[in-house]
Amino acid sequence: MKKKLIAGNWKMNGSLADNEALVRALVAGLASAGGCDVAVAVPAPYLAQVQALAQGSALALAAQDVSQHAAGAYTGEVSAAMLRDFGVRYVLVGHSERRQFHDETDADVATKAQRALAAGITPIVCVGETLAEREAGQTEAVVKRQLAAVIHLNGHCISEVVVAYEPVWAIGTGKTASPEQAQQVHAVLRAQLAAASDQAPRIRLLYGGSMNAGNAAQLLSQADIDGGLVGGASLKAADFQAIIAAAQ
Ligand code: PGA
Repeated sequence: MKKKLIAGNWKMNGSLADNEALVRALVAGLASAGGCDVAVAVPAPYLAQVQALAQGSALALAAQDVSQHAAGAYTGEVSAAMLRDFGVRYVLVGHSERRQFHDETDADVATKAQRALAAGITPIVCVGETLAEREAGQTEAVVKRQLAAVIHLNGHCISEVVVAYEPVWAIGTGKTASPEQAQQVHAVLRAQLAAASDQAPRIRLLYGGSMNAGNAAQLLSQADIDGGLVGGASLKAADFQAIIAAAQ
């Protein structure tokens, strides 16, 4: 059976002091939690700090974004090779906040996923509908379009990718999709993956959007939910550890 993956997304939060306390607590707790994979996606300036703190532990390092360019005159961008230099294992691509506030298109997301894979980093490709899209009955069409953009990446199999379904209306709002609502969309994504690859059953599909210590177990018990992408609740060690425990 594939291990579940619980990935924290710190977003633009943290400080040297706060990160140290949080990562030390997580690393201590992980010693007894071998049943699932755990990662934290940290702001780029803290990659070196968290890499050092997590050294030798089961805590994997993730980044929140990657440039679609390999190198060169792209002020402010961080390349996949740079992430690799800091031991980054996963990178979020196409998070709804990037799509919304930085106008990332499906094509940009695909290029970023490709860059990550070429550097040996697993992209966590985020898909999800807005509230308006859900209310207009477009949920399936939107997530299928977003997934279709990354399903055939040159020279790579879709099984090298992690997919995160994050309904935009559930992110940071405290409104979680019900386990049934989430499972329904995950089943659609799984079927789309199955049509493209015989490896579909082993691809990890994460749910994200107000996952917390109280609702994680139910969400994670759904047939096609293989982990979580956790924002707010990943900033407090006890909350994140409770979610990790629910995934064991
Ligand atoms: P949230 O964020 O858990 O705070 O809703 C999830 C995410 O955006 O990845």
